[in-house]
Amino acid sequence: MANKNMKQQVMNGIRDKVLTLDTMNQSVKNIEYAVRGPILLRAMELERELQQGVKKPFTEIIRANIGDAQAMGQKPITFMRQVLALCQYPDLLSSPSFPEDAKKRAMRILQSCEGHSTGSYSASAGIQMIREDVARYIEHRDGGIASDPDNIFLSTGASSAIMAVLNLLVSGKGKTRTGVMIPIPQYPLYSATLAEFDAVQINYYLNEEHYWGLDVAELQRALEQAKAHCQPQVLCVINPGNPTGQVLSRENIEAVIRFAYEEHLFLMADEVYQDNVYAEGSQFHSFKKVLMEMGSPYAQQLQLASFHSCSKGYMGECGFRGGYTEVVNMDPAVKQQMLKFQSVRLCPPVLGQILIDIVTNPPQPGEPSYQQFQQEKKAILARLAEKAQLTEKILNKQPGIHCNPVQGAMYSFPRIQLPPKALQRAKELGQPADMFFCIQLLEETGICVVPGSGFGQKDGTYHFRMTILPPLEKLKILLEKLNQFYAKFTQEYS
Ligand SMILES: Cc1ncc(COP(=O)(O)O)c(C=O)c1O
Repeated sequence: MANKNMKQQVMNGIRDKVLTLDTMNQSVKNIEYAVRGPILLRAMELERELQQGVKKPFTEIIRANIGDAQAMGQKPITFMRQVLALCQYPDLLSSPSFPEDAKKRAMRILQSCEGHSTGSYSASAGIQMIREDVARYIEHRDGGIASDPDNIFLSTGASSAIMAVLNLLVSGKGKTRTGVMIPIPQYPLYSATLAEFDAVQINYYLNEEHYWGLDVAELQRALEQAKAHCQPQVLCVINPGNPTGQVLSRENIEAVIRFAYEEHLFLMADEVYQDNVYAEGSQFHSFKKVLMEMGSPYAQQLQLASFHSCSKGYMGECGFRGGYTEVVNMDPAVKQQMLKFQSVRLCPPVLGQILIDIVTNPPQPGEPSYQQFQQEKKAILARLAEKAQLTEKILNKQPGIHCNPVQGAMYSFPRIQLPPKALQRAKELGQPADMFFCIQLLEETGICVVPGSGFGQKDGTYHFRMTILPPLEKLKILLEKLNQFYAKFTQEYS
């Protein structure tokens, strides 16, 4: 046998490659991440062709595929960059160009960095002073409910914290494999991570007819079905929602908490869009606050991890990879395991940690930077609110497209009716029908959005996800062009 293998390896004098698509980790091969999938690759190709002077029916690619605010032209918050610059290059501390509060903040942060340098590793759970600032921020946000810095783990964006917590939770084999309930449509980090960890994905469907609401009856249905083939242990909720933009009411959150408690589930609350709430009557309620206010037995027993990030909100500082998780009612021994896991990866990026510090400890009234910070923050959020409304309004003008109100987050997830001939053509091409629509849209208009099939949707329905991040004037043009394309497309395939 060994001889035969050897022969195969050296056939024709060429050794087989050790790593091939067949031999590689199949769990990694099973991962899909639509947000940066084939549509984006084609968009990048088209961009290159445009640069080379190839004639197209459009002059630029408008990227509405990814929630990356600064890539779409949003300016960074001045104070954040001032503190970062000072921390990075402390010689600037003597420069008159920086306000005194930014300097004070930078000196305070540098004092807590090893060797007073941002170039050193930090403690694995993050810089202790920043964990304390995060805990104080959570207490303030939640109306005084206590938060323990020991329960805060800083992370490399929210993504790494979500993956770390899922990694702790997934175990078992066959029918005892951990089942993880995720919303459909979902942010594909969840399905991708579950594929990587070979966990069982349990889909619960958000109710599109009810503004993408979360029905507990649907949670129950999904759970009961899943019990036959796995051990459901985790419930993930994204609030405000990506890609659906819904904001959960307090009553809804209470019902979800009761459900998780009764079904003995670990709750993961993805709250990276907590600052992005636009619709009148909508308000962000943190799962932690609602849980604690519900009192016994929930507050003492339900296990929760909630996540936040500097990538979203008004900050949009995606590239610095700052985030944190707060864990509640976690067994201290498991917390040790989580810390161990994080220490293997040494520490989250220190600059991302610094940004989290500024998010959770912004300039205070009376400090020199307070006014400007507030003005910049409010202007960004007001613009996003305006664009959320505009998106819903313009898309709903077009018969065949239906867009729920964008109550929060940074996306709309409109439903599109596609004519039978388009479905047939997509089938012939071996593409999901909404992928076919999105590719045609890209080829003819340069607009880059992501097909609904990348996020999951009810069978027989078709959607796409687009961000509300392009500058207002560009967004208007994009939406009008999209409507016109849809009308032409449906006529062509009617
Ligand atoms: C719902 C949700 N969670 C988590 C993330 C990850 O964010 P980051 O890792 O940049 O903090 C995103 C990014 O788009 C998201 O939309």
